[in-house]
Amino acid sequence: MARKTITTQVAIMGAGPAGLMLSHLLYKAGIESTVIEVRSREEIAATVRAGILEHGSVNLLVDSGVSDRVLRDGDEHQGIELRFNGESHHIDFSDLVGESVYLYAQTEVFKDLAERRELDGGDVRYSCSNTQASEFAGRPVVQFTDSEGQEFELQADFLVGADGSRSHCRFQVPEADRKWYFHEYPFAWFGILTEAPKSSKELIYANSEHGFALISQRSDDVQRMYFQCDPKENVGEWDDDRIWAEFRRRVNGNGFELKEGPVIDKMVLPFRSFVHAPMRHGNLFLAGDAAHTVPPTGAKGLNLALNDVKVLFEGLDNYFKSGSTSLLDSYSDRALERVWKAQHFSYWMTTMLHHVPGADEFGRARQLGELNSVISSRHGRAYLAEAYTGWPSK
Ligand code: PHB
Repeated sequence: MARKTITTQVAIMGAGPAGLMLSHLLYKAGIESTVIEVRSREEIAATVRAGILEHGSVNLLVDSGVSDRVLRDGDEHQGIELRFNGESHHIDFSDLVGESVYLYAQTEVFKDLAERRELDGGDVRYSCSNTQASEFAGRPVVQFTDSEGQEFELQADFLVGADGSRSHCRFQVPEADRKWYFHEYPFAWFGILTEAPKSSKELIYANSEHGFALISQRSDDVQRMYFQCDPKENVGEWDDDRIWAEFRRRVNGNGFELKEGPVIDKMVLPFRSFVHAPMRHGNLFLAGDAAHTVPPTGAKGLNLALNDVKVLFEGLDNYFKSGSTSLLDSYSDRALERVWKAQHFSYWMTTMLHHVPGADEFGRARQLGELNSVISSRHGRAYLAEAYTGWPSK
């Protein structure tokens, strides 16, 4: 079969929440896009990811008409519990900064966006292979093979790499034209899904002498929980009894007990901080995990991705309406400003809450001093609340 040539205004690599949200916003503004994705729609929908949406992310989904399911099926949380020394301390977001977050799994955000794009007749091609992007100095080109084996050459005015943490697009940028910032942590998260009732109304972030644990939720009868582990931990060596014993010693105590149930999924999540700068190379723009990774402790990954595409959309819309490149030119700086705030917040939450292997007694006592200074001061609690619920967008 001969290779077919197709053209569009904006080519988007990656049909995760970032790529689909951008395609949706462009569609609403009358701008054409084609989305190329190597995974199948089913595979993306079945991937377990994090679940906290800042109020700005909720507004973007609802106000742009993707779905209001987040408001009906999501859970609004007015705060979190910080637990250390066996006691929980409530950080009350609504009282401190007048905002809240929604617990709504990233897979649900994906399903809402995928359905909206389908209903609107969007050109989203899942299960593609042999993807190769080039020509960023002029009109970018993406070569790919679709799910039926047909080869294509997609030509566009701009290419957006929203193709996740193992981004193909990012690797096409020559080393001399970008900087990679990288930080590794000496631990990872062991994540489980369990069939159990909720243990708490809100999320619990626990610092214990045995390491960090996070008690999150998915529904009335399925819960999501994590505990800090070694990056090389083997999930096969952990049966339900061993997993629950680990959670109990990190979280239970002083009258609080986790509600336990069968573990239906378990995985080790890598942990790192990464930034690729600038987030633009010629007519290639990077968005979401393709450009940055944050450790999950601050619940920022999906929210940053949605903020990137909101800012990038403004640049593209302005260009196609007026011919001006000014907002495209400022995209990377505007997006990176929030990325670095989120990098700092995620790093701060991580180092404040995790047990650092090999830390001395001073390190442990200092960490408790830090936690105490946060919870005992309205300013400390308000800093956490403002960052967690999401800074106002500029
Ligand atoms: C989750 O529910 O998966 C979750 C929530 C908060 C985080 C990370 C993960 O900080």
